[in-house]
Amino acid sequence: MKQRVMSGMRTTNRLHIGNYFGALKNWVELQKDYDCFFGAMNWHALTDGYKTPDIFTKFTKDMIMDWIAFGIDPKKSIVYIQSEIPEVLELQMLFSMITPLGWLDRVTTWKDSIEDLKSKDAYNLGRYSYPVLQTADIAIFKGNKVPVGLDQVPHLELSREIVRRLNHLYKTKIPEPAQLLTENPAIVGTDGRKMSKSYGNIIPLLEEPQVIVDMAKKMVTDPARVRRTDPGNPEVCPVFMTHKLFSPTTEQAEVDRDCRTAAIGCMDCKMKLATNINAFMKKPLEKRKELLNNPGQLDEIIEDGCERARAEAKKTMGEVRSELGW
Ligand code: TRP
Ligand code: SF4
Repeated sequence: MKQRVMSGMRTTNRLHIGNYFGALKNWVELQKDYDCFFGAMNWHALTDGYKTPDIFTKFTKDMIMDWIAFGIDPKKSIVYIQSEIPEVLELQMLFSMITPLGWLDRVTTWKDSIEDLKSKDAYNLGRYSYPVLQTADIAIFKGNKVPVGLDQVPHLELSREIVRRLNHLYKTKIPEPAQLLTENPAIVGTDGRKMSKSYGNIIPLLEEPQVIVDMAKKMVTDPARVRRTDPGNPEVCPVFMTHKLFSPTTEQAEVDRDCRTAAIGCMDCKMKLATNINAFMKKPLEKRKELLNNPGQLDEIIEDGCERARAEAKKTMGEVRSELGW
């Protein structure tokens, strides 16, 4: 039997290229070697966004469309929506009994954001137990490997402790999930800072070519390159860093050389970048449009995925209940 990969994304936003290079690209590859479960995590999105549930409904389908557009194969992998699997919450409840508060207090993603959460009116029980729910996401499908970024490592450590405790207490046989660290290249936003929705500096995925051209025009360049005749330094330029993700290596080398000698202007450089991003997005964008134009097809895919996920979740929860004598 193949090992299982389990992962998910919160349904808070349209995806951007950071999500692609940081996670999705890796998911697509993992499908070759693992049985994969990919969840659109709408409960997790509610932890700090419970005041605006309607926007998340919109992003849920949208996100799944993007996954499929980039090569997640819903026949092979199980693609599901978290809120469609009630067993996850049942397991989370059991986990919440065996998780000492001290374990949660120590989680850095909680400890270090308390003030921020208070200011956002999101200092709540759901947010506190976020990693417990995440553990249930993984354990309900007996996930062996969890591809995550560095920021999620403390959560995975906690997940292993919780699962270990469950197995110890009740003789269940849930695998302790291991992280598969995704090596993500540094993804800088259009302004050179880390790409983040909250900075308003994202490069969107799967937009019309003109949107990408307009975005490229607005990108920050080497600040020291003021006039067209000034030589530039690609190493400090967000445009060049993005070339590294999308442009062929020969073209990267040309840009690198021609920027330093001022043989190329920043506008030309940006237009080259936009062309390469658009070439990269072409096929996925077509696939996305196909799904947009066939809402019935997408709904069927999601329904099928949720059904298969539910069957697995019922199996696990059945085993756990029987160990509890319920
Ligand atoms: N917390 C993850 C994130 O913010 C999303 C997530 C929810 C997740 N449940 C999960 C990731 C289970 C892996 C496994 O990216
Ligand atoms: Fe940046 Fe390109 Fe301008 Fe050089 S030419 S500063 S790499 S945008």
